Amino acid sequence: MLFTGLNFLFFWMTWTTLVLSHSPLRVELFGTLAIRLVFYLAPSVFFFLFDTILPYAASSVKAQGHIALPSGHKRRKISRKEVKIIGWSLFNILLSIVVQGAAEFTLTTLLRRRSLIKVAVRLPYPWGITTDIVRGFILREILNYSIHRFVLHNERLGITRLHETWYHGLRAPWPLTAHYDHPLCYLLWKFLPLYVPAALFRFHMITYMVFLGLVSLEETWTHSGYSTVPLGFVLGGMARRTEMHVISGGDGNYGAWGILDWLGGSTADENDTIEEDVRAELADLDIDAKIRKAVQEAKNHMGDSVEKERVKTRRRVNGNS
Ligand SMILES: *[C@@H]1O[C@H](CO)[C@@H](O)[C@H](O)[C@H]1NC(C)=O
Repeated sequence: MLFTGLNFLFFWMTWTTLVLSHSPLRVELFGTLAIRLVFYLAPSVFFFLFDTILPYAASSVKAQGHIALPSGHKRRKISRKEVKIIGWSLFNILLSIVVQGAAEFTLTTLLRRRSLIKVAVRLPYPWGITTDIVRGFILREILNYSIHRFVLHNERLGITRLHETWYHGLRAPWPLTAHYDHPLCYLLWKFLPLYVPAALFRFHMITYMVFLGLVSLEETWTHSGYSTVPLGFVLGGMARRTEMHVISGGDGNYGAWGILDWLGGSTADENDTIEEDVRAELADLDIDAKIRKAVQEAKNHMGDSVEKERVKTRRRVNGNS
Protein backbone atom coordinates (compact mmCIF):
# COMPACT_ATOMS: atom_id res chain seq x y z
CA MET A 1 0.00 0.00 0.00
CA LEU A 2 1.32 3.41 -0.97
CA PHE A 3 -0.84 5.54 1.28
CA THR A 4 -2.63 4.56 4.43
CA GLY A 5 -5.39 5.82 6.65
CA LEU A 6 -5.53 9.54 7.26
CA ASN A 7 -2.72 10.30 4.91
CA PHE A 8 -4.65 8.66 2.15
CA LEU A 9 -7.83 10.52 2.99
CA PHE A 10 -5.97 13.80 3.02
CA PHE A 11 -4.26 13.01 -0.24
CA TRP A 12 -7.55 11.98 -1.86
CA MET A 13 -9.25 15.21 -0.78
CA THR A 14 -6.42 17.35 -2.10
CA TRP A 15 -6.35 15.52 -5.40
CA THR A 16 -10.13 15.68 -5.84
CA THR A 17 -10.19 19.41 -5.11
CA LEU A 18 -7.34 19.98 -7.53
CA VAL A 19 -8.96 18.06 -10.38
CA LEU A 20 -12.39 19.57 -9.84
CA SER A 21 -11.16 23.15 -9.67
CA HIS A 22 -8.73 23.19 -12.61
CA SER A 23 -8.78 22.10 -16.24
CA PRO A 24 -7.06 18.76 -16.98
CA LEU A 25 -4.46 20.54 -19.09
CA ARG A 26 -3.50 22.83 -16.23
CA VAL A 27 -3.29 19.94 -13.80
CA GLU A 28 -1.04 18.07 -16.23
CA LEU A 29 1.30 20.96 -16.98
CA PHE A 30 1.59 22.35 -13.46
CA GLY A 31 1.93 18.84 -12.02
CA THR A 32 4.77 18.17 -14.47
CA LEU A 33 6.49 21.44 -13.62
CA ALA A 34 6.14 20.85 -9.87
CA ILE A 35 7.70 17.37 -10.08
CA ARG A 36 10.56 18.71 -12.21
CA LEU A 37 11.23 21.48 -9.70
CA VAL A 38 11.17 19.25 -6.63
CA PHE A 39 12.83 16.08 -7.93
CA TYR A 40 15.20 17.40 -10.57
CA LEU A 41 15.98 21.08 -10.22
CA ALA A 42 16.18 21.36 -6.44
CA PRO A 43 18.62 18.45 -5.90
CA SER A 44 20.65 19.25 -9.04
CA VAL A 45 21.04 22.91 -8.09
CA PHE A 46 22.09 21.83 -4.61
CA PHE A 47 24.76 19.48 -6.03
CA PHE A 48 25.90 22.13 -8.46
CA LEU A 49 26.38 24.65 -5.65
CA PHE A 50 28.26 22.07 -3.59
CA ASP A 51 30.59 21.36 -6.55
CA THR A 52 31.15 25.05 -7.18
CA ILE A 53 31.58 26.26 -3.63
CA LEU A 54 33.54 23.28 -2.27
CA PRO A 55 35.41 21.95 -5.34
CA TYR A 56 38.08 20.12 -3.31
CA ALA A 57 35.56 18.22 -1.22
CA ALA A 58 33.38 17.59 -4.27
CA SER A 59 36.16 16.21 -6.47
CA SER A 60 37.15 13.73 -3.77
CA VAL A 61 33.67 12.17 -3.89
CA LYS A 62 33.49 12.12 -7.71
CA ALA A 63 34.13 8.85 -9.50
CA GLN A 64 36.18 10.67 -12.18
CA GLY A 65 37.82 13.19 -9.86
CA HIS A 66 38.04 16.86 -10.75
CA ILE A 67 37.19 16.46 -14.43
CA ALA A 68 33.60 15.88 -13.28
CA LEU A 69 33.43 19.32 -11.67
CA PRO A 70 31.39 21.95 -13.56
CA SER A 71 34.53 23.97 -14.40
CA GLY A 72 36.58 20.80 -14.97
CA HIS A 73 39.09 22.05 -12.45
CA LYS A 74 39.40 22.46 -8.70
CA ARG A 75 40.87 25.95 -8.75
CA ARG A 76 38.85 27.38 -11.60
CA LYS A 77 35.61 29.25 -11.09
CA ILE A 78 32.67 28.56 -13.34
CA SER A 79 32.68 30.61 -16.52
CA ARG A 80 30.18 31.83 -19.07
CA LYS A 81 30.33 28.46 -20.77
CA GLU A 82 28.87 26.70 -17.72
CA VAL A 83 26.24 29.38 -17.30
CA LYS A 84 25.21 28.87 -20.94
CA ILE A 85 24.97 25.11 -20.39
CA ILE A 86 22.69 25.64 -17.39
CA GLY A 87 20.60 28.16 -19.31
CA TRP A 88 19.99 25.73 -22.15
CA SER A 89 19.18 22.93 -19.69
CA LEU A 90 16.48 25.05 -18.07
CA PHE A 91 15.24 26.12 -21.48
CA ASN A 92 14.93 22.46 -22.54
CA ILE A 93 12.88 21.54 -19.48
CA LEU A 94 10.45 24.37 -20.18
CA LEU A 95 10.44 23.53 -23.89
CA SER A 96 9.42 19.94 -23.17
CA ILE A 97 6.52 21.17 -21.04
CA VAL A 98 5.43 23.56 -23.80
CA VAL A 99 5.56 20.73 -26.36
CA GLN A 100 3.59 18.51 -23.99
CA GLY A 101 0.99 21.26 -23.57
CA ALA A 102 0.79 21.86 -27.32
CA ALA A 103 0.26 18.14 -28.00
CA GLU A 104 -2.48 17.85 -25.39
CA PHE A 105 -4.15 21.08 -26.50
CA THR A 106 -4.17 19.99 -30.15
CA LEU A 107 -5.67 16.62 -29.27
CA THR A 108 -8.29 17.65 -26.75
CA THR A 109 -9.36 21.11 -27.88
CA LEU A 110 -8.70 21.18 -31.62
CA LEU A 111 -9.33 17.53 -32.50
CA ARG A 112 -11.73 16.77 -29.65
CA ARG A 113 -9.96 13.52 -28.83
CA ARG A 114 -9.13 12.23 -25.37
CA SER A 115 -5.95 13.43 -23.70
CA LEU A 116 -2.68 11.48 -23.69
CA ILE A 117 -2.45 11.53 -19.90
CA LYS A 118 -5.56 10.64 -17.92
CA VAL A 119 -6.48 13.36 -15.42
CA ALA A 120 -9.34 11.87 -13.38
CA VAL A 121 -10.66 12.09 -9.83
CA ARG A 122 -10.66 8.33 -9.52
CA LEU A 123 -7.23 7.21 -8.31
CA PRO A 124 -5.28 4.31 -9.86
CA TYR A 125 -4.59 1.20 -7.78
CA PRO A 126 -1.05 0.71 -6.44
CA TRP A 127 -0.65 -2.42 -8.55
CA GLY A 128 -1.73 -0.52 -11.68
CA ILE A 129 0.78 2.22 -10.91
CA THR A 130 3.55 -0.34 -10.46
CA THR A 131 2.94 -2.25 -13.70
CA ASP A 132 2.61 0.98 -15.70
CA ILE A 133 5.86 2.29 -14.30
CA VAL A 134 7.75 -0.94 -14.98
CA ARG A 135 6.64 -1.09 -18.61
CA GLY A 136 7.18 2.66 -18.87
CA PHE A 137 10.82 2.29 -17.86
CA ILE A 138 11.36 -0.67 -20.21
CA LEU A 139 9.96 1.17 -23.23
CA ARG A 140 11.87 4.31 -22.28
CA GLU A 141 15.13 2.38 -22.26
CA ILE A 142 14.41 0.80 -25.67
CA LEU A 143 13.52 4.19 -27.19
CA ASN A 144 16.52 5.90 -25.61
CA TYR A 145 18.94 3.27 -26.88
CA SER A 146 17.53 3.18 -30.42
CA ILE A 147 17.22 6.94 -30.88
CA HIS A 148 20.51 7.66 -29.18
CA ARG A 149 22.51 5.09 -31.09
CA PHE A 150 20.85 5.11 -34.51
CA VAL A 151 19.78 8.74 -34.84
CA LEU A 152 21.98 10.92 -32.64
CA HIS A 153 25.15 8.92 -33.26
CA ASN A 154 24.49 8.08 -36.89
CA GLU A 155 27.26 9.45 -39.09
CA ARG A 156 24.90 9.65 -42.07
CA LEU A 157 22.46 12.01 -40.37
CA GLY A 158 23.03 15.73 -39.97
CA ILE A 159 21.62 15.83 -36.46
CA THR A 160 24.64 13.89 -35.23
CA ARG A 161 26.75 17.04 -35.58
CA LEU A 162 24.39 18.92 -33.27
CA HIS A 163 24.46 16.22 -30.61
CA GLU A 164 28.24 15.94 -30.87
CA THR A 165 28.91 19.66 -30.58
CA TRP A 166 26.33 20.28 -27.85
CA TYR A 167 26.03 17.35 -25.43
CA HIS A 168 29.46 15.98 -26.29
CA GLY A 169 31.00 19.37 -25.76
CA LEU A 170 30.94 18.31 -22.09
CA ARG A 171 34.12 16.80 -20.66
CA ALA A 172 32.10 14.72 -18.21
CA PRO A 173 28.57 14.90 -16.78
CA TRP A 174 28.09 17.28 -13.86
CA PRO A 175 24.93 18.25 -11.94
CA LEU A 176 22.41 20.07 -14.16
CA THR A 177 23.79 18.65 -17.43
CA ALA A 178 21.20 15.87 -17.68
CA HIS A 179 18.99 18.22 -19.70
CA TYR A 180 21.72 19.86 -21.74
CA ASP A 181 21.74 19.30 -25.50
CA HIS A 182 20.60 21.03 -28.67
CA PRO A 183 16.82 21.46 -28.14
CA LEU A 184 16.04 19.24 -31.13
CA CYS A 185 18.28 16.43 -29.84
CA TYR A 186 16.89 16.95 -26.37
CA LEU A 187 13.32 16.40 -27.53
CA LEU A 188 14.38 13.26 -29.39
CA TRP A 189 16.31 11.43 -26.69
CA LYS A 190 15.05 12.89 -23.41
CA PHE A 191 11.47 13.96 -23.98
CA LEU A 192 10.15 11.32 -26.40
CA PRO A 193 11.43 8.27 -24.45
CA LEU A 194 9.72 9.71 -21.38
CA TYR A 195 6.44 10.89 -22.84
CA VAL A 196 5.75 8.27 -25.51
CA PRO A 197 5.42 5.38 -22.99
CA ALA A 198 3.20 7.53 -20.75
CA ALA A 199 0.94 8.39 -23.69
CA LEU A 200 0.96 4.90 -25.19
CA PHE A 201 -0.12 3.22 -21.95
CA ARG A 202 -2.24 6.28 -21.14
CA PHE A 203 -0.89 6.80 -17.63
CA HIS A 204 -3.09 8.26 -14.94
CA MET A 205 -1.72 11.66 -13.92
CA ILE A 206 -0.74 10.26 -10.51
CA THR A 207 1.17 7.43 -12.21
CA TYR A 208 2.79 9.94 -14.53
CA MET A 209 3.93 12.06 -11.61
CA VAL A 210 5.46 9.05 -9.82
CA PHE A 211 7.17 8.01 -13.09
CA LEU A 212 8.45 11.53 -13.72
CA GLY A 213 9.67 11.81 -10.13
CA LEU A 214 11.68 8.59 -10.44
CA VAL A 215 13.06 9.66 -13.84
CA SER A 216 14.04 13.05 -12.40
CA LEU A 217 15.89 11.48 -9.47
CA GLU A 218 17.60 9.07 -11.84
CA GLU A 219 18.75 11.93 -14.08
CA THR A 220 19.99 13.87 -11.08
CA TRP A 221 22.09 10.99 -9.76
CA THR A 222 23.39 9.61 -13.08
CA HIS A 223 24.71 13.05 -14.03
CA SER A 224 26.01 13.95 -10.56
CA GLY A 225 29.38 12.25 -11.03
CA TYR A 226 29.44 11.18 -7.39
CA SER A 227 31.00 7.79 -6.77
CA THR A 228 28.49 6.88 -4.06
CA VAL A 229 24.83 7.19 -4.98
CA PRO A 230 21.70 5.80 -3.32
CA LEU A 231 20.55 2.43 -4.70
CA GLY A 232 24.15 2.02 -5.84
CA PHE A 233 23.56 -1.40 -7.40
CA VAL A 234 21.28 0.23 -9.99
CA LEU A 235 22.14 3.93 -10.12
CA GLY A 236 25.89 3.43 -9.60
CA GLY A 237 26.24 1.40 -12.80
CA MET A 238 24.04 3.82 -14.70
CA ALA A 239 26.10 6.79 -13.53
CA ARG A 240 29.41 5.14 -14.52
CA ARG A 241 28.02 4.14 -17.93
CA THR A 242 26.78 7.68 -18.57
CA GLU A 243 30.19 9.08 -17.60
CA MET A 244 31.95 6.64 -19.90
CA HIS A 245 29.61 7.59 -22.73
CA VAL A 246 30.54 11.25 -22.35
CA ILE A 247 34.26 10.79 -21.60
CA SER A 248 34.67 8.45 -24.57
CA GLY A 249 33.06 11.06 -26.82
CA GLY A 250 29.98 8.97 -27.55
CA ASP A 251 31.85 5.79 -28.37
CA GLY A 252 29.38 3.30 -26.87
CA ASN A 253 27.04 3.04 -23.87
CA TYR A 254 23.98 4.40 -25.65
CA GLY A 255 21.55 2.96 -23.12
CA ALA A 256 21.35 3.63 -19.41
CA TRP A 257 21.08 0.04 -18.16
CA GLY A 258 23.86 -1.57 -20.16
CA ILE A 259 21.71 -4.54 -21.24
CA LEU A 260 20.92 -3.25 -24.72
CA ASP A 261 24.52 -2.17 -25.20
CA TRP A 262 25.64 -5.63 -24.23
CA LEU A 263 23.16 -7.23 -26.66
CA GLY A 264 23.99 -4.74 -29.40
CA GLY A 265 27.76 -4.92 -28.85
CA SER A 266 28.10 -1.22 -28.11
CA THR A 267 29.59 -1.20 -24.62
CA ALA A 268 32.14 1.61 -24.20
CA ASP A 269 35.63 0.28 -23.61
CA GLU A 270 36.40 1.39 -20.09
CA ASN A 271 40.13 0.57 -20.23
CA ASP A 272 40.77 2.81 -23.22
CA THR A 273 38.99 5.75 -21.76
CA ILE A 274 40.61 5.44 -18.37
CA GLU A 275 44.04 5.45 -19.93
CA GLU A 276 43.15 8.53 -21.96
CA ASP A 277 41.84 10.05 -18.82
CA VAL A 278 45.12 9.50 -16.97
CA ARG A 279 47.03 10.93 -19.90
CA ALA A 280 44.75 13.95 -19.99
CA GLU A 281 45.36 14.51 -16.34
CA LEU A 282 49.13 14.34 -16.81
CA ALA A 283 48.87 16.88 -19.57
CA ASP A 284 46.94 19.22 -17.38
CA LEU A 285 49.52 21.90 -16.64
CA ASP A 286 47.88 23.03 -13.43
CA ILE A 287 48.27 19.67 -11.79
CA ASP A 288 50.60 19.55 -8.82
CA ALA A 289 54.11 18.44 -9.81
CA LYS A 290 54.18 15.99 -6.96
CA ILE A 291 50.97 14.32 -8.02
CA ARG A 292 52.17 14.18 -11.59
CA LYS A 293 55.35 12.45 -10.48
CA ALA A 294 53.42 10.00 -8.32
CA VAL A 295 51.06 9.11 -11.15
CA GLN A 296 54.00 8.76 -13.55
CA GLU A 297 55.82 6.49 -11.12
CA ALA A 298 52.74 4.44 -10.53
CA LYS A 299 52.35 4.08 -14.28
CA ASN A 300 55.98 3.02 -14.74
CA HIS A 301 55.83 0.41 -12.04
CA MET A 302 52.83 -1.34 -13.36
CA GLY A 303 52.44 -3.53 -16.38
CA ASP A 304 49.75 -2.88 -18.96
CA SER A 305 47.77 -5.86 -17.79
CA VAL A 306 47.08 -4.48 -14.32
CA GLU A 307 44.61 -1.83 -15.38
CA LYS A 308 42.66 -2.19 -12.18
CA GLU A 309 45.66 -1.31 -10.02
CA ARG A 310 46.18 1.82 -12.04
CA VAL A 311 42.64 2.93 -11.45
CA LYS A 312 43.07 2.37 -7.75
CA THR A 313 46.29 4.38 -7.66
CA ARG A 314 44.66 7.18 -9.55
CA ARG A 315 41.85 7.28 -7.05
CA ARG A 316 44.34 7.27 -4.18
CA VAL A 317 46.36 10.06 -5.76
CA ASN A 318 43.20 12.05 -6.35
CA GLY A 319 42.08 11.48 -2.83
CA ASN A 320 45.34 12.89 -1.40
CA SER A 321 45.41 16.00 -3.49
C1 LIG B 1 19.84 7.39 -22.26
O1 LIG B 1 21.08 6.74 -22.02
C2 LIG B 1 22.13 7.56 -21.63
C3 LIG B 1 23.38 6.72 -21.50
O2 LIG B 1 24.15 6.83 -22.66
C4 LIG B 1 21.78 8.26 -20.35
O3 LIG B 1 22.80 9.13 -19.98
C5 LIG B 1 20.49 9.03 -20.52
O4 LIG B 1 20.11 9.62 -19.30
C6 LIG B 1 19.39 8.12 -21.00
N1 LIG B 1 18.21 8.90 -21.28
C7 LIG B 1 16.99 8.44 -21.09
C8 LIG B 1 15.88 9.34 -21.51
O5 LIG B 1 16.78 7.33 -20.60
